[in-house]
Amino acid sequence: MSKKNICVLAGDGIGKEVTDWGVQALETAGSYHNLSFNFQYELLGHAAIQATGEPMPAATLASCKAADAVLLGAIGDPHYDLNPHLKVRPEQGLLALRKGMGLFANIRPILLFDELLTASSLKEEIIRGTDILFFRELTGGIYFGQPRGRKEDGTVAFDTKIYAKYEVERIARMAFEAAKTRKKVLHSVDKANVLESSRLWREVVQELAAEYPEVMVIHMFVDNAAMQLIKDPKQFDVVLTGNMFGDILTDEASQIAGSLGMLASASLGNEVGLFEPIHGSAPDIAGQNLANPLATILSTALMCDRSLNAPAAGQLIVDAVDAVLKAGYRTRDIMDQNTDTDKILGTQEMGAQVLKTINTVAKQNVLA
Ligand code: IPM
Ligand code: MG
Repeated sequence: MSKKNICVLAGDGIGKEVTDWGVQALETAGSYHNLSFNFQYELLGHAAIQATGEPMPAATLASCKAADAVLLGAIGDPHYDLNPHLKVRPEQGLLALRKGMGLFANIRPILLFDELLTASSLKEEIIRGTDILFFRELTGGIYFGQPRGRKEDGTVAFDTKIYAKYEVERIARMAFEAAKTRKKVLHSVDKANVLESSRLWREVVQELAAEYPEVMVIHMFVDNAAMQLIKDPKQFDVVLTGNMFGDILTDEASQIAGSLGMLASASLGNEVGLFEPIHGSAPDIAGQNLANPLATILSTALMCDRSLNAPAAGQLIVDAVDAVLKAGYRTRDIMDQNTDTDKILGTQEMGAQVLKTINTVAKQNVLA
């Protein structure tokens, strides 16, 4: 039995509801694959500000760094969105955590379950067969660039978009490596027709391309990429982007998969990885048993695969989610006119259904 230490950051809003099920999915799937867990709970975001005054307390970073992997729910609270002048904000906690843990690569798979093809607002024939792997740069660019601030009595504000060559190179390399094992097509998204930092981005990608002759590189401007993504998503396989473009494009791409509530992500760097759903804290539905726990559960599958050396446990979780969807169960965000009303589940019921199915699938696997 291998014991893994997981730091759990529920964060804000629906964070606790969904991470609770992520934890249980790990425990259940792990039990079939020689894994046991020790979960350490820490604060991040608004919850941390309320308890300590800081969005990312030092204890949180220390626990995360000492863990085998981190599971994060979501952070954010409407209080700050309504008060843009507030200086201490939940999002700073997440950004500081990413920086502090050196998580420069955010990997966001746009994974389509066949059963959800009709839940998307896009036409079935456009999205069927889509399988995209986003590599979003996560610790640089405009979200971190200095200087930033206000001048002239607060009437002028500025941010800096800045990239160093090494920052582009290390994420680009990961994307090239992934492209090599997939369809050997890499779309690098930038705004090199306008931005200096994008021209550096493009140069670095071009240089690296020489090392990967088997990978076809397509440079695309971000405005065009946003359009192509919904026009013909199947043209994409591996997509490489900077921090802000990746933030925006992956929310857009989530609609191909039916709902933001389905998409998992892995943030990786040099050491400990962090796994989180790409959705936010959804304060409007928090505490009402309405959140979709599947993105978090699928994030634990990514964790098994990428950080716990337990790809079979990860596959078990994905297979269980697939089976639950095949059986017709849906949370509200992924239901459509064909959904059986008695199969519309709340967070708790959906989580329980997945656990039950992990057990069933695991037993079938033993028999097979
Ligand atoms: C995401 C989120 C975060 C980001 C916010 C909450 C800071 O939107 O993970 O995509 O912008 O990176
Ligand atoms: Mg985002």
